[in-house]
Amino acid sequence: MARMVRLAQFVSPLMAGLFFWQGAMAAPTVPPVSYGVGADTFHPVTEQHGMVASVDATATQVGVDILKQGGNAVDAAVAVGYALAVTHPQAGNLGGGGFMLIRTAAGHTTAIDFREMAPTRASRDMFLDAQGNADSKKSLTSPLASGVPGTVAGFALANKEYGTLPLRQLIAPAIKLARDGIVVNESLANDLQVYGKEVLLSHPNSKAIFYKADGTPYLRGEKLVQRNLAHSLELIAQRGPDAFYKGPIADQIAKEMAAHGGLIDQADLASYKAVERKPVSGSYRGYEVYSMPPPSSGGIHIVQILNILENFDLAKMGFGSADAMQVMAEAEKYAYADRSEYLGDPDFIQVPTSALTSKAYAKSLAQQIDLNKARPSTDIKPGKLAPYESNQTTHFSVVDGQGNAVAVTYTLNTNFGSGIVAGDSGILMNNEMDDFSAKPGTPNVYGLVGGEANAVQPYKRPLSSMSPTIVVKDGKTWLVTGSPGGSRIITTVLQMIVNSIDFGMNVAEASAAPRFHHQWLPDQLRVEKGFSPDTLKLLTMKGQHVKVLPAMGSTQSIMVGPDGTLYGASDPRTIDDLTAGY
Ligand code: DON
Repeated sequence: MARMVRLAQFVSPLMAGLFFWQGAMAAPTVPPVSYGVGADTFHPVTEQHGMVASVDATATQVGVDILKQGGNAVDAAVAVGYALAVTHPQAGNLGGGGFMLIRTAAGHTTAIDFREMAPTRASRDMFLDAQGNADSKKSLTSPLASGVPGTVAGFALANKEYGTLPLRQLIAPAIKLARDGIVVNESLANDLQVYGKEVLLSHPNSKAIFYKADGTPYLRGEKLVQRNLAHSLELIAQRGPDAFYKGPIADQIAKEMAAHGGLIDQADLASYKAVERKPVSGSYRGYEVYSMPPPSSGGIHIVQILNILENFDLAKMGFGSADAMQVMAEAEKYAYADRSEYLGDPDFIQVPTSALTSKAYAKSLAQQIDLNKARPSTDIKPGKLAPYESNQTTHFSVVDGQGNAVAVTYTLNTNFGSGIVAGDSGILMNNEMDDFSAKPGTPNVYGLVGGEANAVQPYKRPLSSMSPTIVVKDGKTWLVTGSPGGSRIITTVLQMIVNSIDFGMNVAEASAAPRFHHQWLPDQLRVEKGFSPDTLKLLTMKGQHVKVLPAMGSTQSIMVGPDGTLYGASDPRTIDDLTAGY
């Protein structure tokens, strides 16, 4: 409630004007932009006419081929999205959802929301057990875990409004990959070994696809054919999204759900709509930042944190300094605290976007940051640490030769989603219902807590952290980026921006630099290996609860130089990913 009152003061700009921060500082010492030629340690891929960065080399190649065939960035993005559904079943999908951010060469920026939607029969307490406790099995690995998928609708909308090639041409490469088979790469083989037995093995339809006759999963170098998926893709190529939402695929999904206690029925599928929304926007040290609006929390909190950071001279503090990390971690705590209270599906609740992204509100938060002392997050019971450490959501970025840019983050949620393949469709279903707040104050799989604003309701979209983002410099697309990582997506994308602007890193260095993350609850400053032990000691002395944990995120980013040259980088944390162009 106190937070509500605090925020309410910023709804009116007049009221906001009452706040004045005494600690106003001199102009920050921002270094010149680096594009990565010369003496840098890491170098981006450089191309002239078009570029794709994705988590899978085959999918990247599909996108580059579409660009070469004369498709624009939206066409290539749709083709990559379909290809990933075949080559990267951990997160690429037809049975999930996500977000696409587009900036056209003419400077129009728009967001396509194809987030999953709760079915009509969903209800507030559907994930509680008999004792009233949140039951994560229900929200993660049961047929109840799935929201109505949005990917097919989202790609169709993007294609219709902003694409140039027929949808079937964009699906064709995916059909071929599913029908002829893919060579299983190291990433898929590893994830099948580690996560497969948890989620796929117990479902006969899934086992039949990802496991061999002897009951072992496919190994690196072996050929994986997905005949049923090829057939579903063919149906969509022939009949458009109706094949999925009203036709034979809808029948398969509804039948699967009805047989095993799921809730999605034919009417839910027929009524699903992807929506075009206005991106969240902000400014940071003279750059424009565009990112995903609710039902993602990403855009709002990236802009909010950047607004707070603008009050500090990060460049002068230096990358990896205890001061810069302290300021960023403290700013992140405020943002994630606000997330837990104010964010949800904008079709159901009023999200105070302009208040949360106002410079005045950020200044008042900046004022509360003590460079020498961490503020404890002890006012609510701490969240449990997420058991899942993988990066199974996926992001890809595309820029074409005309200057159109597309950033897409989409997912099944955790690895292979619910693990349930719907009937004979070959389509893995998501477990995105876990992103709702099953019970106020109880953390979800990413340790995120929420309340009423993100409670389950029929037709509602669960709150997300996915943040496809485009940064604009001098009126032109400059940085296209995004990442998987659950709650860590927001801070990963934030660090891409700060590393590029404040620390003058080229896009490859910005991607490679070690990352850190604070999400308020649990009260923990999570850091990757690679920071100086001296820095970590100083942060501990300031009161941060520092913990070195596995790598965060898998950014796939493209930077555009002043002359239109494209500089791209896939995250070195990820194997089998590729940035390529021509
Ligand atoms: O929408 C969200 O925020 C999550 N479902 C994203 C999941 C994700 O990034 C998984 N990777 N760790």
